[in-house]
Amino acid sequence: MLNDKTVVLGVSGSIAVYKAADLASKLTQAGAKVNVIMTESATRLVAPLTFHSLTDRPVVTSMWQAREAGIGHITLADTADIVVIAPATANTIARLAAGIADDMLTATVLATRAPVIIAPAMHTNMFRNQITQDNLARLRARGFTIVGPARGRLASGATGEGRLVEIGEIIDAIEKTLQKSADLSGKRIVVTAGGTQEPIDPARHIGNRSSGKMGFALAEAARDRGAEVTLITAPSHLPEPGGVAVVRVTTAAEMKAAVAKAVKQADALIMAAAVADYQPKSRAQAKIKKQSPEMTLELVRTPDILSEVTGSFIKVGFAAESEDLVANAQKKLKQKGLDLIVANDITEPESGFGADTNKVTMIDKEGNAESLPLMSKREVAERILDKVAGMGENPP
Ligand code: CTP
Repeated sequence: MLNDKTVVLGVSGSIAVYKAADLASKLTQAGAKVNVIMTESATRLVAPLTFHSLTDRPVVTSMWQAREAGIGHITLADTADIVVIAPATANTIARLAAGIADDMLTATVLATRAPVIIAPAMHTNMFRNQITQDNLARLRARGFTIVGPARGRLASGATGEGRLVEIGEIIDAIEKTLQKSADLSGKRIVVTAGGTQEPIDPARHIGNRSSGKMGFALAEAARDRGAEVTLITAPSHLPEPGGVAVVRVTTAAEMKAAVAKAVKQADALIMAAAVADYQPKSRAQAKIKKQSPEMTLELVRTPDILSEVTGSFIKVGFAAESEDLVANAQKKLKQKGLDLIVANDITEPESGFGADTNKVTMIDKEGNAESLPLMSKREVAERILDKVAGMGENPP
């Protein structure tokens, strides 16, 4: 797995830095090209020459020294198959979470498209501090893998959480992540996102509270796992993910047409969009003026995109429910001819519309139900893609 892979090993200034030398050595022995980037404080604890001797490659200690060595400021980011930061101090984690790029390590992480693994090491109080916890949650939500920390004796002499995990555990995480980063390679995945808007007149529409976050997280996660992704999105304020073909639509009818076109080549369709079920029977050409105290708007059904789309690709739907979650989702799975349905209870706090987190139950067509705990939408996306990747080995 590691042979010929380019690994950026970021080393920040924790007393556990000496263990990173062992990691650099093991990765090199396994055939990886290991590009070490040290923060300034790491160089106070271990000499760059140690890493240079173990990896037989240049070691970067600052943006300027890299430049002098002929290494551009994003070269290491571009060429990495994976970035591993071990040990990662509370300070480095905070800088990464804030998107700061004031040294070669943080600039590389900000610029890379490769997966990133973080192995924290710090004093227990720093680790338990809500600020560090929030920073780690933020990175996790962006798709970073956090390994550890472990419990044990710390540099201060105290015992607690904060020790760098064993090197073997970091190598396992690297191998698993590398495997995952390619498990959808060459697959074409269509994802829908956001809430459709059905116009009433030039000023108004019928909409819903979907933010698009779940669909965007799916598109980003699928891209990071090597898939060629088309994201068909109803209006959303989220920034467009790079490396994804984005198709913008407004109504259910437009989404249907875009899906029909995109699935021709697809291996999987994941419908995370909240599609309006009804649209105004006719759209007024001019703004409707207020007249009588009551007004009736005549609505007609929109197309059911998932039920109507055909083809030999994996079909994944969502079920937004406010009661009888599993039973209702199972019914939808059958009615819409799906391989997998992801049910979420939209009445749960921190779950569903607009939230950054989601709590879902995944049900496959064999009737197996798996309830996941509350997690970031990115993590939910990864779990859904684990299922899709598994089905891809035995396509429907
Ligand atoms: N869906 C669709 N076309 C529609 C409505 C929904 O493709 N016109 C898709 C959604 O993207 C989702 C799944 O069908 O993947 C279920 O959507 P949901 O809103 O939960 O269910 P509905 O089919 O609309 O049923 P109901 O509103 O009665 O619960």
